[in-house]
Amino acid sequence: MVQTAKNILMDSRFKFGLIGKNISYSFSKKYFTDKFQKLGLNTYKYNNYDIPEIEEFPFIIYQQEEKFQGFSVTIPYKQSIIKYLDEVEEDAQKIGAVNTIKITDDNRLIGYNTDVYGFEKSIEPLLQKHHNKALILGTGGVSKAIAYVLEKLKINFKFVSRNISENSLGYPILDQNILNEYTVIINCTPVGTYPDIDNSPNIPYEFITDKHLLFDLIYNPSETKFLQEGRKRGAIIKNGHEMLELQAEKSWEIWNS
Ligand SMILES: NC(=O)c1ccc[n+]([C@@H]2O[C@H](COP(=O)([O-])OP(=O)(O)OC[C@H]3O[C@@H](n4cnc5c(N)ncnc54)[C@H](OP(=O)(O)O)[C@@H]3O)[C@@H](O)[C@H]2O)c1
Repeated sequence: MVQTAKNILMDSRFKFGLIGKNISYSFSKKYFTDKFQKLGLNTYKYNNYDIPEIEEFPFIIYQQEEKFQGFSVTIPYKQSIIKYLDEVEEDAQKIGAVNTIKITDDNRLIGYNTDVYGFEKSIEPLLQKHHNKALILGTGGVSKAIAYVLEKLKINFKFVSRNISENSLGYPILDQNILNEYTVIINCTPVGTYPDIDNSPNIPYEFITDKHLLFDLIYNPSETKFLQEGRKRGAIIKNGHEMLELQAEKSWEIWNS
């Protein structure tokens, strides 16, 4: 894009940020900075706002000289950000988590959840007829978005957690019968993330077969121990990288709509 004085002025309005905690290694800043560069959007900015508590959010948004167009939101603020928003789109409302905020021309903050889109588009092409029951490992923030998508895709699911409850199975109960029945297994825990690469969720991998689909939301390393164990036994495997890109692209689409 050729930069004229007029569109430089317009461009300077385009400021974005990531709200989170301990985010110096985040994917989003690099992804959007590279994207702006590729598109020739030289005055677009995407910065990290690493805040110790969510109560600092209003200071970021209202005490900057330039107006923000949008934010990405990550751990641990996807839920607690909601109280600062004027409106929350339906998917995000049902899940109770927001990872994208659009700021309208009249300064309204609207929350969206694009993890839903990213996960659905990433897993859908891999699903086969017999993939009709899933185990979701972990019960943290993103697991709710995953459960929401599975419900949409009419795949029955159970959560697996370190804390057994009426809504979740414990890891020790997982056996051959359960694994024969639940042929989709989705890792929504951070276990196996770099540098902890020799670790994997505690499931009986010996019962994984070529009927299974193992999806890991982790993207670093690209093949976690969880996925390696699946590949060894002929399962379909997929990491979280495409999901991450798809959710970022959806956020970009929302900011530009
Ligand atoms: N690819 C993507 O686009 C994408 C998007 C969002 C998140 N992610 C990744 O998904 C993972 C989970 O994210 P999140 O936001 O849900 O995190 P979170 O809120 O911290 O939740 C993680 C859950 O994992 C379980 N867990 C934590 N430590 C564990 C351990 N040592 N052993 C076994 N289970 C453990 C816990 O569930 P229980 O207490 O029930 O056991 C916890 O609630 C992270 O690795 C994150 O980077 C990827």
